[in-house]
Amino acid sequence: MDVTFRIRRYNPEMPDQAKPYWQTFELKDVQETDRVLELLHRIKWEQDGTLAFRRSCSHGICGSDAMRINGRNALACKLLVKNLGPKVQVEPILGLPIKKDLIVDMEPFFDHYRSVMPYFINNDPVPADGRERLQSQDMQNIYANSTNCILCACCTTSCPSFWANGKYVGPAAIVQAHRFIFDDRDQGAKERLEALSEPDGVWRCRTIYNCTPACPRGIEVTRAIGEVKLAIMKGSPEGIINPNEITVHS
Ligand code: SF4
Ligand code: F3S
Ligand code: FES
Repeated sequence: MDVTFRIRRYNPEMPDQAKPYWQTFELKDVQETDRVLELLHRIKWEQDGTLAFRRSCSHGICGSDAMRINGRNALACKLLVKNLGPKVQVEPILGLPIKKDLIVDMEPFFDHYRSVMPYFINNDPVPADGRERLQSQDMQNIYANSTNCILCACCTTSCPSFWANGKYVGPAAIVQAHRFIFDDRDQGAKERLEALSEPDGVWRCRTIYNCTPACPRGIEVTRAIGEVKLAIMKGSPEGIINPNEITVHS
């Protein structure tokens, strides 16, 4: 099949490209099973070597190639062209400063990530026998879904609340906080819940639900946000989630 790509371009170092503009590329002999990332590579290698985009693993793991493709956030390496048709429009994810073409500045996103203390906190001495801190499978199931996050930013940059106010901590950071708040071995829940109850925390979420379908890892983002809101109202994560009611995703 033949496919027409319409790509948003921008290069602040070139006077004639210092304002964003659209550029069209025609590709022939495209296979239905080609992924958008492969076709961006073809454009870069065969037609315009200046086209800039991030990618690394090509297998949906590193999270570096989030883009807005035909109006929806996705990882370019996971999206097959047969699901898009012969016209494909690609632009940078929204709400973050554009550095060049499809590359955005991820630092504001990672600032929000760091603000929720996305690491294990436990000041108790390590077990005397030197083994790991044990946890039941039921308790692990409570937050297991949130551990699948690859920090691609598809959720946060599809959220209208984030577009309206870039200070909103955003769904990705809340998912990361959820992963530790509901881990019964962690002791930092109180600090994280306090941080997320600030004006730019979870309450900026208006349950718009763009984030959940945007997640390439199938994370129940809006549910996680709701559980964090409940924990803030209750003052503690305990008892919010019944492990027996959890659906475990493979
Ligand atoms: Fe990406 Fe999903 Fe993590 Fe959001 S929750 S950053 S969409 S993997
Ligand atoms: Fe935004 Fe998702 Fe909430 S799209 S408003 S973070 S439910
Ligand atoms: Fe790594 Fe797509 S290139 S997730």
